[in-house]
Formats: sequence, structure tokens, C-alpha cells
Amino acid sequence: TKITISLIKADVGGWPGHATVHPALKETAESVLSQEKAKGEIIDFKVMSVGDDLQLMMTHQRGVDNAEIHGLAWEVMCKATEKAKELKLYGAGQDLLCDAFCGNIKGMGPGVAEMEFEERAAEPVVAFMMDKTEPGAFNLPIFRIFADPFNTAGLVIDPSIHQGFVFEVWDIMEHKKVMMDSPEEMYDILALIGAKSRYVIKRVYPKAGKLPEDEPAAVVSTEKLYQTAGTYVGKDDPVALVRAQSGLPALGEVLEPFSLGHLVSGWMRGSHNGPLMPCAFEDAVCTRFDGPPRVIAAGFQIAKGMLIGPVDLFRDPAFDLTRQRVHEITDYMRRHGPFEPHRLPMEDMEYTTLPHVLKNLGERFADAD
Ligand code: 13P
Ligand code: 13P
Ligand code: MG
Ligand code: MG
Ligand code: MG
Ligand code: MG
Repeated sequence: TKITISLIKADVGGWPGHATVHPALKETAESVLSQEKAKGEIIDFKVMSVGDDLQLMMTHQRGVDNAEIHGLAWEVMCKATEKAKELKLYGAGQDLLCDAFCGNIKGMGPGVAEMEFEERAAEPVVAFMMDKTEPGAFNLPIFRIFADPFNTAGLVIDPSIHQGFVFEVWDIMEHKKVMMDSPEEMYDILALIGAKSRYVIKRVYPKAGKLPEDEPAAVVSTEKLYQTAGTYVGKDDPVALVRAQSGLPALGEVLEPFSLGHLVSGWMRGSHNGPLMPCAFEDAVCTRFDGPPRVIAAGFQIAKGMLIGPVDLFRDPAFDLTRQRVHEITDYMRRHGPFEPHRLPMEDMEYTTLPHVLKNLGERFADAD
């Protein structure tokens, strides 16, 4: 039997500012979802958070893009927004851009990562959740997990993944996608996904072999809020689901790329580059300059759709040195103040509040010599 995992997130109010999610919002979500679980509408769920983003992870058998499941997530987010308004949390309902639900939550503000697959004899899954950054922040780690032999030893030594993987890359400006084979087209893949504000990895599939070719090994939320809202309302803090082991990269190979603390865009006002810090659930509170950007990893074994977990995977002290480096890079980047490349380049600032400032200066410009 096939199982669907739906990870749907939204910022429905920060506490305080954009720092974290108030426990009352999680309690609201838990009470709605536990009723739905008791009614048999979903198999299991977990409510989590990273920074100011509320995360709903649900399992069911209705497939991806299902109207009932998306409607349920929308209902939960609306109820949590009511609670946020009552507590006067910051930006209550920030990511809910439409008043009424119209069948699919995509394009309405929340971020979605969903995958349907035949549950294997043992099914390890990692839910990655980021705050203060954008979908392209997943390009580097997802590439390294599934395509970089210096990261993933199995690509070299395990016959079940030696043939590589297929990458589905989206051009989020043109709303187009392309399927690309790794390792055959590795340089072309990198030519695209290195430009992470435009080209994003949407899914990764196994090649013919041990696992079905149409069941994703990884999926990333690619919703871009400013494209939906037309103006800056916050960054599109992304999530991803990654399956591991037995024909896929091992759990440790899935986590390893996050030991870099790579530079991503987001952070203060969604307008700055900074290092991505892997951290424990309890440390996912964004305060320094509203950051730095953060990622948490929740590990599960799936058992007939039940979510056995989460294990807080970045709590491991083996990531302490990464965090130490991130602290140093944070200090270094901050000292650049309003200068690029700490501040994002002009083309990425187009969707922020900066054009409003520049507009007022416009009429003072005269021809230069
Ligand atoms: P264990 O012997 O602990 O199961 O580890 C196997 C493995 O492949 C680790 O990557
Ligand atoms: P969020 O997208 O996490 O709400 O952050 C918005 C922001 O402007 C932080 O400074
Ligand atoms: Mg916010
Ligand atoms: Mg956020
Ligand atoms: Mg946001
Ligand atoms: Mg073992």
C-alpha cells in the first residue's frame, strides 16, 4: 500500500517579532489534527516549528495535491491565525494570502512538500525545515546528497545507488521544469542550480533499479511568496522531505552536507546573505538580526503510515563545530552592514521595501557628464 506524507507550513504569527512560534498555536494545530486522526481522516501527524514557521506533517493514503488534506491544513492554519490574532502575535496570518480555500493550498501562501510511495520494509524519512531563507537554500545540500561522491560514499561503493539519480529542476521565474540525469549531466545541473534564486531542485528520483522510478526520494517546497503576493511579505522559508537507506543515500549521507553552514539568502527582512545553521529543535529561535537562517532535521521511521519519531537529528554535538563556524561567519557578515554581498544584490532586492526608498530619490537624479 502507498503512503503519502504531506509537510505543509506557514508563518501565521511570530512571537515576538519573527523569532518563534507561540506554544498556543501548536496546541491549536494539535487539537484539530488529533480529532482528524481519531476520525480516520489522516493516519498520523506531528506538529513542529522552526523559527516563526508552524509545520504540519501528516500521513494519509489520499495521494499528493489532495483537496481534503490541503483543506485540512488550511483550516488548521486559519484556526492558528485566530489564536495569533487573539494574542496579537506579530504578522498574524502573514503567509495566508487568500480569504477562502479553493481546493489546493499551493499558491495561497503556505509551503508544501509532499510525496507518495510504497512503504519499504524499513522506511527512514527526514523532514528538513528552514527559517529565514528561501527554497534555493536546499539546492546545495540536495545536490550533494544525491550527486556528490565526496559527500555520499554510496555513490561510489554501493551498487544500489551507483547509477545515480534523476533531478527535477524548476525555473521558478518562467514556471518551467527539466528532468536531468546525474552523474551524466552533472555540470549542466550545476550550471542551473548554482543560480539558486531562479533554479530550484523540486524533486529527486531513483533511476531504474531497486526502487520504483516514479516515487521521489526527495521533494522540496518551491513556493515563492513574493510571486504569489506580488510584494514582500516575508521569505518563503522552505521545507523538504528526504527518504534514506536501501537504494537511497544513508541517513548520515543525507545529513552530512549541512555540516558546511553554507551561505543562503534571507535573514533580516529577507534581504541578506548569511550562513545556514543546523540546530536542535529547542535552538530554532531566530533572534540575532532575526537569524541567522536555521535548519532543523526531524528523523522518522514510517510504520504503516505511523510517524515513529521525531528524532532531533542536528542536536548531535558532532555539528557543534559547524555552529561555531556559523557564529564566526555571522559576525563577519554583519560587519558589512548595508553593503553587498551581505545585503542581497539589486535584482533580488526588487521584491523588498528598497524600491520604495529609491523611488523617492529618483527625481533628484540629473544627467552625469
Ligand atoms: P550499522 O552497522 O550501524 O547498521 O551501520 C551501517 C551503515 O551502513 C552506516 O552507514
Ligand atoms: P519570516 O519570513 O521568517 O517571517 O521573516 C521575515 C523577516 O522579515 C525577518 O526579518
Ligand atoms: Mg514572520
Ligand atoms: Mg519564517
Ligand atoms: Mg516567511
Ligand atoms: Mg545496522
